[in-house]
Formats: sequence, structure tokens, C-alpha cells
Amino acid sequence: MSTTTTLTQEIDRRRTFAIISHPDAGKTTLTEKLLLFGGAIHIAGAVKSNKIKKTATSDWMEIEKQRGISVATSVMGFNYGDYKINILDTPGHQDFAEDTYRTLTAVDSVIIVVDVAKGVEQQTRKLMEVCRMRNTPVIIFVNKLDREGRDPFEILDELEAELKIAVRPLSWPIGIGARFKGVYNIYEHSLDLFTPDKQKVSERVEIDNIDDPRVDSAIGAPAATQLRDDLELIQGVYPAFNVEPYLEGKLAPVFFGSALNTFGVKELLDCFVKIAPAPRPVATEERIVQPAEEKFSGFVFKIHANMDPNHRSCIAFVKVCSGCFMRNNPYRQVRTGKVMKFSAPTAFMAQKKNIVDEAYPGDIVGLPDTGNFKIGDTLTEGEDIHFKGLPSFSPEMFKYIENTDPMKSKQLEKGIQQLMDEGVAQLFVNQFNGRKIIGTVGQLQFEVIQYRLLHEYGAQCRWEPISLYKACWIESDDPEALAAFKKRKHQFMAVDRDGRDVFLADSNYVLQMAQNDFPKLRFHFTSEF
Ligand code: G4P
Repeated sequence: MSTTTTLTQEIDRRRTFAIISHPDAGKTTLTEKLLLFGGAIHIAGAVKSNKIKKTATSDWMEIEKQRGISVATSVMGFNYGDYKINILDTPGHQDFAEDTYRTLTAVDSVIIVVDVAKGVEQQTRKLMEVCRMRNTPVIIFVNKLDREGRDPFEILDELEAELKIAVRPLSWPIGIGARFKGVYNIYEHSLDLFTPDKQKVSERVEIDNIDDPRVDSAIGAPAATQLRDDLELIQGVYPAFNVEPYLEGKLAPVFFGSALNTFGVKELLDCFVKIAPAPRPVATEERIVQPAEEKFSGFVFKIHANMDPNHRSCIAFVKVCSGCFMRNNPYRQVRTGKVMKFSAPTAFMAQKKNIVDEAYPGDIVGLPDTGNFKIGDTLTEGEDIHFKGLPSFSPEMFKYIENTDPMKSKQLEKGIQQLMDEGVAQLFVNQFNGRKIIGTVGQLQFEVIQYRLLHEYGAQCRWEPISLYKACWIESDDPEALAAFKKRKHQFMAVDRDGRDVFLADSNYVLQMAQNDFPKLRFHFTSEF
């Protein structure tokens, strides 16, 4: 077998994805059930929730512990039939949403979990926006059918309207809550009966088609009639499922089930491995990189710091984009030009972290790092390319960061710089008064920064309030218009870490006025434009 064949075979069998949801919809439970099917774990309850519980916001040790868990579950790799599956975990707590956005740049598709009673919730909406920006294929799993919830047709309408994507049910629930009898698998034309059980898989009834009398005897005549009516309606309303629009990120297949009861999960997984994309081509600033290219390339999408102050080491998580990553081969860190070799790259298989000799496109390797990497860095066999698509979003909360120990200003500088490299938050420097502003998604990140600056760098800081609505990146083809704007708004101008102009708007009204008054300027709410 030639090496090219091996490479394409390895690529074709890989499925790298993330499960996303609003907290409590069932992401952890679903992940665990997928691992059960993959034989990666043998008993439910083995996966610890990566959730940082809401009550823990002020309990630092608790957060530390939970962050520890999140390293272990950062990537879950396992084999399922001929497929190699990599699930990338995303933090459950919404204050770490920025981490989740970045993880989404490293996946080839996504499964969204929605609670049947709650429908589409705020965080799901936001994460879907990121998927839409990147045309990421999504499959939706409507969870908790064993509980009372909304009418499935109503849920489909809501998914379509709120997530702004066409939907197509590939399974259909029979009853709900106490009357939940099972699902009809539209994709495979089979009937699965519900038996509440957290460990075992449900019972499948062999049927020829939906008119088979075995349907009536399995679920009773009234439910069978209802099911046939529903399916007729579905055929009428939704076009037949076609994989192309799904792969283009325009159509989301929908499955129904109950993760807790391991129900509808295998159907989801079986369909997922068939239709979900293998590693896709990835854009760099210079060209598109094809996974089957012989030479290795990859990028850092996440850096996980070791919280032990005696070991200032990190793990940089690299997504392999092309070729084969080999242990001890020399690779070029494009930003710094350094040639680096990695003697102990790790990967996660069946919940175990192992040193790996090679990794293929779609795989994630963890590289021990002592400060050589920043989020977004590219590794290659020598080519000068830069992977795109790690946008920063305008933060939701802003605070001035002030040094409280003048003897430690160097440590503070260094700490802030390294934490920003890790992507913990965003730094803007106000051009008017030179003060540093930290922008985050949630309050918890400020606590993380303060704690880590003290414990890892010995630097003390204090937060001071600043009332800001949004930070937006501005640009214009007309240098005079840009200069005029910067002059008018000089008190509210800042630069980001890359030296780009950022306008700090203190209210929506001010922002709208600025947009009206300066039509030649473009205002961006993500750093990727
Ligand atoms: P998350 O990661 O999306 O935040 O959600 P997680 O899986 O932790 O699930 C949130 C809660 O919903 C858990 O209950 C879980 O047991 C429950 N759950 C998940 N799937 C189903 C389902 O299909 N049916 C029902 N009825 N419940 C489901 P909890 O009480 O918060 O936690 P735990 O004490 O059970 O761990």
C-alpha cells in the first residue's frame, strides 16, 4: 500500500466534531453515551462533567479542580467501526464561551443538543452564529423526550427560525414524556421502542415500511395512526433529505431522543458517521490546504496552562490539517521561524492520554509548551503559511486593569501578555490615556485572570469599572475618513494586541450615530474581516 493511500484512508475515516448546547441541555450526557458506544468507557457515569457549576463562581479551588477535569476531557478519541472519532470538548460555563468559539475552528462538524422543553436557548443561538460564519455542518439532537416538552413540529419551526438554518427531521418521536413510546427512524426506516434504561440500548422492531401492521402491534393503533399522519405531513413539508446542503451548512438533520436513557443516540451516531464530513480543506491567508497533501501542517487552537505554579508549562493543542504529524520530526513554527521537534506529543484515545508517534488530519495532538505558542500559530514542514479563522469577538464586559504593586510591574506585563497569548481574554490599550482594558465574555474570566496573575506571576492587580457597550474594529479605504473619525473619537480609540484600531462605543446609540456619521468606515464586531 502506498503512503498516499494510507493517508487518504486515514483522512476518510476521521470524524472530528464538537457537541454544543446551552448548559443543562444534555451535552455531557450525550458525550458519555457516544463514548459508551465507542467502547471508550464501559459504564455510564464515568465521564465527569466539565461543567463549572453555577454556584462555584467564587469558589476558586472548585474551578481549579474542574479545569483539571477539562484538560482530561479536552479531546476524546475512539474508534467506532471503521471510523476514528474525535470529540472536542467545549467548556460548559458561558463565561468561557470564547474557548468554545475557538474550538469550533478546529472541528469539521457539530452536533447541537436542544432540550425539548426549553427549545433554542441563548447560548445555542450564539454558537450557531459561529457555525454559520464558517459554514460548519450541524446535526441537531432534540433531547429529553422522556420528559414533557413541546410539540415536535413546534420545535422544528423554532429551530429553523431561531438558528436560521433549514431543518429536516431524520427521526420522529412517538409521543412525549409519560406517553413517549419511541422513535421512528426516517433515515433507516426502522422503529425503535423506548425502554427507559440508562445503560442498555433500546429495542428495535423489524418492519418493512410504515404501513406494516407490526407498527400497530408495537405501539398501539392510535399512536400508529398519529405517526403515519405525522410522517405524511413531514414528507409534504420537508424536501427529501439530501446530504449536499447539510455539508454546505445550509440544512440541519434533526434527531429526537433521550441521552440519559441512551435512546436515539445510536441512531444519531450511525447516521453521523455516514454523513458527517471527514477533515475538510482549511483556508490559510496564502492558499487552501488540502488534508491529503503529503506535507504536514496544523494550527494551535487552544492552550491549556498548567495551574501548578511550580511547573509553568502548558499544553498547546494542535489540529492536524494536512499530511502526517510525526514525533521527533522538525517542524517550523511560522510566526517565530523557529524549528521545533516534539519528543512527547500526546493524543487522547479511549480516555487515556498517550504519547503518539503519528497523527493524521482531523486528529488533535497536545504539545508540551513552555511559552513558544500563541493561539492561532501555524506549524508546517517549512512553508510560510498562516491558518485563518480564529476570530476574536467583541467582548461583552470590560474593565481597566491596574497594577497594585509598583515593584512588580514587569511581572504584571509579562503575565498579561502570556494570558492573552493563551486567549484567556482580550486586551485593548486606550490611545487617549494609555490605560489597559481587558475585555471578557463573563465575570468569571476577570477572577481567573486576577488569580492567575497572582499565583503564576506574583503580580497583583485591581479592576476598575469602565462603562462600555462594544469594542469594534474599524477600517476604511479612505485614510482621511479614518483619520477624521479617530480625531473626533480620540478619547474612545484603542488598539488591540495586533495594533489594529478599535473603537470603544459606550452605548448602542453612540455606535449607531458613529455608523451614520461616518459611512465610509466599516465597523466589525469580530476581528476576522
Ligand atoms: P450539559 O452538559 O449540557 O450541561 O448537560 P448534562 O448532560 O449535564 O445534563 C443536564 C441534566 O439533564 C442532568 O441532570 C442530566 O442527567 C439531565 N439529562 C440529560 N439527558 C436527559 C434526558 O434525556 N432525559 C432527562 N430526563 N434528563 C436528562 P442533573 O440532575 O443536572 O445532573 P445529574 O445529577 O443527573 O448528573
